[in-house]
Amino acid sequence: MKKYNNIQSVLKIRELRKSFGDNHVLNGFSLDLYEGENLVIMGKSGSGKSVMIKCLVGLLFPDSGKIEIMGNDIADLKQVDMNILRMQIGFLFQGSALYDSMTVRENLEFPLRKHKEMYEKKDELVVETLESVGLLSAIDLMPEELSGGMKRRVALARALILKPKIIIYDEPTTGLDPITAKEIIQLMRAIQEKYNTSSLIITHDIDCARVISNRMILLIDGVNYAEGTFNELANSTDKKIKAFFK
Ligand SMILES: Nc1ncnc2c1ncn2[C@@H]1O[C@H](COP(=O)(O)OP(=O)(O)OP(=O)(O)O)[C@@H](O)[C@H]1O
Ligand SMILES: [Mg+2]
Repeated sequence: MKKYNNIQSVLKIRELRKSFGDNHVLNGFSLDLYEGENLVIMGKSGSGKSVMIKCLVGLLFPDSGKIEIMGNDIADLKQVDMNILRMQIGFLFQGSALYDSMTVRENLEFPLRKHKEMYEKKDELVVETLESVGLLSAIDLMPEELSGGMKRRVALARALILKPKIIIYDEPTTGLDPITAKEIIQLMRAIQEKYNTSSLIITHDIDCARVISNRMILLIDGVNYAEGTFNELANSTDKKIKAFFK
């Protein structure tokens, strides 16, 4: 694998195309995620945000296009190198997706089990990571004993425990009340500062986008329709762009 040093764009997507029969979902979508930034992707329901993420993580094969993660074209990688690279990416899935039959501690240990060196330090890592999301006191609780906001924090801790360079958030504030949503957004910012992660954030939440984004991309008609800061896009006169900011 190439060295990661001096690479500005930690994630690069070029001309990504994916259709399901006549349903042309991605029609040449491109993006760059730069080191240390929060990039928000907005797009209507069904516009292909999840399809794009699935192509990124290898759950779907694109029809064409190129995906580079930290300078590595994923099409060229052997499985073992892909696994190493995957460790560099943390995911916060929509709705938290904790394992219901495991305690908070066990949920956090789960991603470590495949990585011997980290697994040996599991106790230390679990405590440190739970502390960074403010939930050390919940270490021995079961998911059913947690509130929605606490679950989201635990899920965030689980995404963080391998100390990824990139975090992908799928709808991080959906289903939370506005105050809890704000707390999660503050936590996402704190984590970015502490770990200098680069984040790709998929959201419908315009307040979340305003607070968290350094840059935004609007996914419309399968392409990167517009790109800019929140203010640049919010002040656009384009009809399709304006629709997002009503
Ligand atoms: N495995 C699949 N097989 C066939 N069609 C699919 C598959 N996955 C997604 N699609 C189609 O691709 C389109 C984009 O779906 P996707 O889940 O990416 O939307 P989304 O932008 O994530 O929407 P939402 O905001 O509702 O999550 C939809 O028309 C969907 O029906
Ligand atoms: Mg989706």
